[in-house]
This record gives sequence, structure tokens and C-alpha cells, in this order.
Amino acid sequence: MIIARTADEVRAAVTGEVAFVPTMGALHEGHASLVRLAVGFGGPVVVSDFVNPTQFGPGEDFERYPRDLDGDAAIAAAAGADVLFAPAVDEVYPAGFETAVDPGPLGDELCGATRPGHFRGVATVVTRLYGLVGPTRAVFGRKDYQQLILMRRVARDLALGVEVVGAPTVREPDGLALSSRNRYLDAAGRERAAQVPAVLRALAGAYADGARAEADLRAETPTDGLDLEYLELRDAELGPHDPDRPAVALIACRVGATRLIDNVLLDPADPDRAAHELAAKEPA
Ligand code: PAJ
Repeated sequence: MIIARTADEVRAAVTGEVAFVPTMGALHEGHASLVRLAVGFGGPVVVSDFVNPTQFGPGEDFERYPRDLDGDAAIAAAAGADVLFAPAVDEVYPAGFETAVDPGPLGDELCGATRPGHFRGVATVVTRLYGLVGPTRAVFGRKDYQQLILMRRVARDLALGVEVVGAPTVREPDGLALSSRNRYLDAAGRERAAQVPAVLRALAGAYADGARAEADLRAETPTDGLDLEYLELRDAELGPHDPDRPAVALIACRVGATRLIDNVLLDPADPDRAAHELAAKEPA
């Protein structure tokens, strides 16, 4: 695997049908699973490693976001990446850069409601990175479900020629979704964080037992003691919930200063799947 600092270095290293995994580094097993999925497409795989300043709001964790290029390179290489693209800020945003990609009203809902401009920053950097890397496919985790749906929409609406592929969420044995931000949690915070998958597990259990209406699902899903930002039920495209169609339950909350998000897909054709996915496992 090579580490590229510029788009020219990426383009010199890979040709053909490139699969692209955009990340902000601080790689973990969730990112590695995306890389392995990308490797499965058979062409070269480029992983970007860039903490994008424009998707962080004032007072968010841009400055302290974990950065570890050596650790990232080891994980990306082990997962089968061909190139780790770790550009400087001015490679991504050169002098005179003025354009932005606005992902539309959905970008102001859910996470966008408390993080104004976040998805505009994500859509802009991802579109720019596509231009630099030239992929035919891009892999995103379902862990960041709203991001996945929005990036699929941006690729379609702007006819970018990039197929956006969603990948399953990788979890700790107790169900907590892996996240670069989990390393902010102390032992007590880590214990409280387990409530996030527990809420989704309760909801998935009610769904498996036949509850479909939003009120019924919520009644079975206590969130006491959680510093909840939102718990919402939507259809799989993030439109209004329809009890007869695949749905997604999305949660965002704070554990101390750390913001955690998670979600689970609820499929009327396979109503037990969500509870199964979230079941606590024996630690490895
Ligand atoms: P980052 O938070 O580093 O995540 C990079 C990719 O890894 C995203 O597609 C995310 O959904 C996926 N991911 C994170 N945790 C995961 C887990 N536990 N299981 C499976 N996939 C997981 O998302 C971003 O970076 C940025 O917004 C980015 C798209 C790179 C734009 O800057």
C-alpha cells in the first residue's frame, strides 16, 4: 500500500474501476470492514484519511479529533487497501476554493438540526474527493445512515457516475457501534454508552413482537437517563414512517461531551433481523 499526499500521486498509483472509502482517519474495525467490502469489487481500493474542517461546527471536536496516520496505514493495508490518500488541507481546499454542495432540506433534519452546515461540509468534501480520486464506487457505513442516504442522493442528483454502496455497522460485543469518538469515553461514559444500542434493542424487540405504529414502538422504548438529542422513526429513505414499509430508527444522544449516533433498519419482510443484529454477544 502506498501513502499518497496528492491527487496526482493517487492517479499515478491506480487505474480502472476504483473503489473509494472516504474516512477521517482514526481507523477501526468498522472502517476496515468497509475496505474489505471495497476490495471485493475486484479493482483498486483508495482510502482517504482527511479530517475535513468544513463539516465541524464552532465548538465541535475538530481540533481534538484523533489523528494517527501510522496506525491508520497499518489498518488500511491489512484490510487490503492499495492507496491511503492523506492530503494536506490545501490539496483539498486550494486557494480560491469557493464552491459548496448543498444536499437539500434533508441535510437540515436529524443530525443536521443540531449541526447546521455539517452535511453541506460532508457533501462538498466527498464530491471534491471523488474529483481527486476518480472512483466508480464509494463505500459508506450504515452507521452514519443520514450521511449514506444523502451521499447516495448527491451522486444521483449530480450524475457523478459513482455508485454509493452501504455497509453494515460493526459493533462491540455489548452492541455499541464502533466509532472514532468512542475513544473520548472514560470507563463510566463507556458504560452509559451501552444504553444507546440498548434503546435500539428494545425498539427492535417490540418490532419483532409485531409493533409497527410509531406510538407503539416508542411506548416499548424507554430512554430515561439518556441525554437524548433525537429518537426518530423514518422510512428507509428518511421520509415519513410508513408501518408497512422498511423503516429505520435513528438515535443521537450525548454521553458527557461525546455525541453518539446509531440506527437500526426494521424490515417488515424480516422482522426479527434487527433484534438479532443488536443482540449482545459474548466478548471475543
Ligand atoms: P468517518 O467518521 O471516519 O467514517 C468513515 C466511514 O466509516 C463512514 O462511511 C462511516 O459510516 C463508516 N463507519 C464508521 N463507523 C462504522 C462502524 N462501526 N461500522 C461500519 N462503518 C462505520 O464519515 C466520515 O468519516 C466523514 O463524514 C467523511 C464521509 C469521510 C467525509 O469527511
